[in-house]
Amino acid sequence: MKGIVFVELLRMAEELVGEAAVDQVLDDTPLLTGGAFTAVGDYPCSDLVALVQAFSRATNVPGEELQRQFGHWMMNTFKTHYPAFFESKPDVMAMLEAIEGEVHVEVRKIYPDAELPSFQTERLGDDGLRMTYSSSRPLVPFCKGLIEGCVDHFGRPAAIDTRDLSQPGAARAEFEIRYAVP
Ligand code: HEM
Repeated sequence: MKGIVFVELLRMAEELVGEAAVDQVLDDTPLLTGGAFTAVGDYPCSDLVALVQAFSRATNVPGEELQRQFGHWMMNTFKTHYPAFFESKPDVMAMLEAIEGEVHVEVRKIYPDAELPSFQTERLGDDGLRMTYSSSRPLVPFCKGLIEGCVDHFGRPAAIDTRDLSQPGAARAEFEIRYAVP
């Protein structure tokens, strides 16, 4: 997994618990990487999961909730670094439909070794979209936070109904995004 993801997780954690507590967690958590992360590096996803668990203990925020918050945080990072993807889309449904066939395709051109999930999308009438997430990494709540952040960005309120269909070693979830009735 790309170093930028780790660097951003540590930045979010610093905002939540402060730099000293983050350093303590890095010292106390056994990581394959040894705890020095740079934005251009590549690190195992298991270290990300271990760090989220450790920050969960340090903050008393459940791990899934932290992952979801981190999805919001990462969506802000993506918006800042890659605004063009967002500016070219009329609404959140179009944006979500473009992740698999456009956004992550471009990510893979820049980083051929990127560890990306796969998505299937299906329109549900005029007001809804079903987005099915599959990955070998256990990041369903992170994905939900990204989708929520994306909804927030486009400004039209929508409800997100999540069905987690994950099996050990194979994460899978169906997200149904429907505009709220005005
Ligand atoms: C709502 C929109 C998006 C969703 C739902 C989404 C979903 C995800 C998820 C869940 C992952 C973690 C990997 C996994 O679960 O297997 C991921 C990784 C990633 N995504 Fe997206 N993504 C979105 C938008 C974007 C955008 C706009 C960018 C920016 C160009 C982006 C770039 C990346 C990168 C760089 C990674 C890390 C790859 C790696 O570590 O090797 N994504 N995405």
